[in-house]
Amino acid sequence: MDTIVLVAGSANLDFVVRAAHVPAPGETVLGRDFATFPGGKGANQAVACAKAGGAGTRMLLALGDDDFARPLERSLREAGVELRIVRSAKPTGAAFICVADSAENAITVAPGANATLAPEHLPSLEGVGWLLLQLETPLASVAAYAMRARAAGVRVALNAAPARALPDELLDALDLLVVNEGELLAIAGGEDGIREKLSRLRVPSVVVTLGSRGCLAKHEGGFLEQPAFPVDAVDTTAAGDTFCGTLVAALNRAASMADALREASAAAALACTRLGAQASIPARDEVEAFLRERV
Ligand code: RIB
Repeated sequence: MDTIVLVAGSANLDFVVRAAHVPAPGETVLGRDFATFPGGKGANQAVACAKAGGAGTRMLLALGDDDFARPLERSLREAGVELRIVRSAKPTGAAFICVADSAENAITVAPGANATLAPEHLPSLEGVGWLLLQLETPLASVAAYAMRARAAGVRVALNAAPARALPDELLDALDLLVVNEGELLAIAGGEDGIREKLSRLRVPSVVVTLGSRGCLAKHEGGFLEQPAFPVDAVDTTAAGDTFCGTLVAALNRAASMADALREASAAAALACTRLGAQASIPARDEVEAFLRERV
């Protein structure tokens, strides 16, 4: 029987404004159009995982009892994600995002209900092949989930975003860590190069995403490089989440790490060509067509 992927993490309603550039501290920028989108690193990764297909995706999330929660539930369900919702007395999480014409963004998150996800909320791990975590929910809960999954023989992936130092007990429970360069520095420290930092981490597989330079993975005693797919980017929001969800979905269906990295990079590139977080995540057939054109 196929195993499923369980994502435990955040869901936010994203309030997005486009502007010529992201404001500097103390600066006011006159932006243009405004829109709301379903977002949150956990929910984005669950949608990416479900759209990548191959097995079921379940998500543990905390939402308020409010109007912000409804579009988030709808987006996840429409993508085929099975939900385990903790209904919180706090408001649903919200993110305030400025997307620059360069496609880069600046994000501030009000965690709200996400901060109430507690160790005792982890659902049954029966039938779960991979647990996928991020750092927009309390660190104590993330660590507790990882350790329980590791003890149950479930493989554990962590996208360590937003950046912060991590306790050894969490790192020791991981099979896969996905970070960008800033997150890698926060975890591994040091003034040495990326390969040295990756080698220093005890996690068996570590992927560092490098934006337009692609990604580099430490895996099974060696290094794998995956170049980025060049696209005309309009919004990089959730590109990293698309990468993580697609990567874990591919590994859950027993793809090789090299194939999983290629598929995840293609999905992330496509996500950069559209506005919004979950709204930008491609379906698997789009990713396959994109890759067929680039053999
Ligand atoms: O990674 C992008 C996400 O970060 C956004 O959807 C926003 O909600 C924040 O969580």
